[in-house]
Amino acid sequence: MQSPLHVAIIMDGNGRWAVRRGLPRTAGHCAGTEALRRAVEAAPELGIRILTVYAFSSDNWKRPLDEVDALMSLLAHHLGRETPRCIESGVRIEAIGRRDRLPPDLRDAIDAAENRTRLGKRLLLRIAIDYSARNSILSAADANSRAAIETALAASPAVDLLIRTGGEQRLSDFLLWECAYAELIFTPTLWPDFTGDDLRRAVQEFTRRERRFGALANPAPAMPVERERWLR
Ligand code: FPP
Repeated sequence: MQSPLHVAIIMDGNGRWAVRRGLPRTAGHCAGTEALRRAVEAAPELGIRILTVYAFSSDNWKRPLDEVDALMSLLAHHLGRETPRCIESGVRIEAIGRRDRLPPDLRDAIDAAENRTRLGKRLLLRIAIDYSARNSILSAADANSRAAIETALAASPAVDLLIRTGGEQRLSDFLLWECAYAELIFTPTLWPDFTGDDLRRAVQEFTRRERRFGALANPAPAMPVERERWLR
């Protein structure tokens, strides 16, 4: 039986999915929320204990205002709508990233979702909003000792498997520290088309990879102490 997994997903391809159908890009983001629901439903049975998804990067503020506004409203709306289902299925929601630049209704929706789902034990769903990995690392570096910096960085769990949909093969400032030893899977599937079976296949491929964490293949390397603490 493999250890509980932390899977991270860069949900790319919403815009192209919509444009190919003659729809506005925001329709792709709406369809993307359904794909996220499928992934959340499939995750626990695949051994995933933590799922971190990239919903809005700090660089996404550079998009046209109407798309940014639509994404902010969509996030607030879906957080509210999905919270009861998350409570029922033991999913704890946590947002990562900056909150100070978000519209107040989205901040309130995040606070409510985090608070109402806080007892969920089956899956931790971390949603990255106004997130930049470089900024997270810089914020941790504000601490005034090496030990404090390490503590701040260890507060974010290491990623086992990172999946990026939509055909691009880059990290786009997502979880740079946490992905130090992540296995990477890139798929051309556009995010709104991504299914629970796609997630299952990605996890199967992950289990075929040999992870050595810089050591030799045998004996199998111990799970880093920092992971054990998170996955207790
Ligand atoms: C990237 O596709 C996707 C985004 C910037 C937004 C992702 C957000 C969601 C799927 C909504 C999540 C909802 C909740 C409640 C967390 P893109 O627009 O860059 O697509 P493109 O590369 O085809 O243009």
